[in-house]
Amino acid sequence: MTYLFIAALAYGIGSISFAVVVSAAMRLQDPRSYGSKNPGATNVLRSGNTLAAVLTLIGDALKGWLAVWLTAQFVHSFGSQYEVGNEAIGLAALAVFLGHLWPIFFHFKGGKGVATAAGVLFAIHPILGLATAASWLIIAFFFRYSSLAALVAAIFAPLYEILMFGFDSNSIAVLAMSLLLISRHRSNIQNLFAGKEGRLGQKSKDKS
Ligand code: G3P
Repeated sequence: MTYLFIAALAYGIGSISFAVVVSAAMRLQDPRSYGSKNPGATNVLRSGNTLAAVLTLIGDALKGWLAVWLTAQFVHSFGSQYEVGNEAIGLAALAVFLGHLWPIFFHFKGGKGVATAAGVLFAIHPILGLATAASWLIIAFFFRYSSLAALVAAIFAPLYEILMFGFDSNSIAVLAMSLLLISRHRSNIQNLFAGKEGRLGQKSKDKS
């Protein structure tokens, strides 16, 4: 029952799409209507409003971090009392990520999960978050494709996690997140191969 509560709470937190919320609060166009139509920081950046993109990135990352951090605090403080172990942390990680991808508040049409996954990884361990973020930054800096950077980071994240902690319940969550994230980037992968993928920060042409 406690596991179900943790999963439901994390899923609910993940379901808050900051791309949609921030854009609405700043009276900007809905990111689901322009660019890649993805409710994520990269697409919000295509609106030309950097602050909205940064706030989206922070919000989506913070919700991932919060769900996992809260669960870790609960497990460490009340784990034995409620018979909840460390696997609840992996469960919360996956649930908040699933909430972002299939949000209950937005007709189950969510984003690709990059910022939320970053927050989750930082909450599992700051070094894991930093290593993965560094991988993203290196690829983004040299190639200027947000999607390519996310795909490379998604491949490295489970490897870093397993190298750092050995194979544990968090590894399953990180592996599942990476597979889902890669699957969500199918259209980006096709565009990358076709040479049609937009560069990072390139403004949307269809902002009507
Ligand atoms: O954060 C998602 C990014 O990797 C790709 O986004 O809008 O270019 O499909 P987008």
